[in-house]
Amino acid sequence: MKRHVEWHATGALQEGATYVAYKVQKDRARGAGDKVLEAIFHFVRRDEAAHGGFYRAIIELEPRTATARSPIWPMFFRLSKCQAMT
Ligand SMILES: [Fe+2]
Repeated sequence: MKRHVEWHATGALQEGATYVAYKVQKDRARGAGDKVLEAIFHFVRRDEAAHGGFYRAIIELEPRTATARSPIWPMFFRLSKCQAMT
């Protein structure tokens, strides 16, 4: 059974993946000159970034267990925060 922090990390990564997918669609809409579709994908991807931020915030609230203290987390947060700003 996964620990809470693992579920939340999975959620953050999934939200990041959907964010990237909507960014690709937004860029395609822009390339096609479709302003309405571009705006729709802009707002949807912004929502996905917020969802990822929610999961990251939950992870930061996790008790400082050995898993939570793992050196992977600083790298995870750096990657996911960079992704949220692209
Ligand atoms: Fe989402």
